[in-house]
Amino acid sequence: MNAAIRAVIRTGQARGVNTWGVYQGYSGLIEGNFKRLGTRDMGSIIQRGGTVLGSARCPEFQTEEGVELAIRRLHGSGIDGLVVIGGNGSQTGANELRKMGFPVVGVASTIDNDLYGSDVTIGVDTALNVALNAIDNLKVTASSHRRALLVEVMGRKCGYLALMAGIAGGAEAIVLPEIEAVPEQVAERIQDSYDRGKPHAIVVVAEGAKYNAEGLCRYFREHGLLHGFEFRSTVLGYVQRGAVPTCADRLLGTRLGSEAAEQIIAGNAGVLVGVCKGELTTTPLEEVVVGKKPLDPWFLKAADMLAR
Ligand code: F6P
Repeated sequence: MNAAIRAVIRTGQARGVNTWGVYQGYSGLIEGNFKRLGTRDMGSIIQRGGTVLGSARCPEFQTEEGVELAIRRLHGSGIDGLVVIGGNGSQTGANELRKMGFPVVGVASTIDNDLYGSDVTIGVDTALNVALNAIDNLKVTASSHRRALLVEVMGRKCGYLALMAGIAGGAEAIVLPEIEAVPEQVAERIQDSYDRGKPHAIVVVAEGAKYNAEGLCRYFREHGLLHGFEFRSTVLGYVQRGAVPTCADRLLGTRLGSEAAEQIIAGNAGVLVGVCKGELTTTPLEEVVVGKKPLDPWFLKAADMLAR
């Protein structure tokens, strides 16, 4: 996200516009927690994970009064346009500001990659690389001890991180929220790996699946399903966030942030800036908040075929 913040500020400055940072997301917007930021304030942030502006979940912004108060704060500081960097929750808030007539442009950013209007979102590549590193390391223990390891990755109700990390990490099975997993079938897959002489089995489980990693382990134990491999679960959790951003993420953040600034300066507000089929795109926020982004069927098919 820092690459995007930097690109918004520096593009704005290059176009002769005054630029501000809003601290702590929508709660900072409601409290008027703003600071004038210029080009020099953006020095040495592109290589840092997270966001220098901070972030917050803000229930108050989900009320009409909260949104109105935020708009009053913005007007009070002479701010007449806002760039919102974030995922579904943030863009839903951006759409509320739009509905009340405030000019806002969204930037597609979430590790979950579940946001309609961009094929890929800021943070996904970095989070995937963290998950992959962990899977590679876990595979060493799994092979040394002849174990089945169930690795849980983030993603809310979306299986994108699990699917991609599972394919790139060579998992024996992948469990997704989009396809209801039958524990017996997962166990069969693991057992089959054992019977064919594999030294390990890695199962990547999405946190939003019906059975999470621990849930599956419990089910296997209670139903006496696995013979041969010992099995354990590992939850990667917040480790997947905050890493040094990859090159792909720095470039994506830069591209989306700069384009968002250009769009808002040009008066083209009420849209989300994203990348579709490699090209920069704008999608109306009202479509973004209702749109669904399905998993790529090619990868779904490949995952099943290649796990052998
Ligand atoms: O949306 C990003 C994400 O990291 C999800 O993958 C995860 O489920 C959630 O945020 C965790 O949210 P919180 O930080 O509020 O616990």
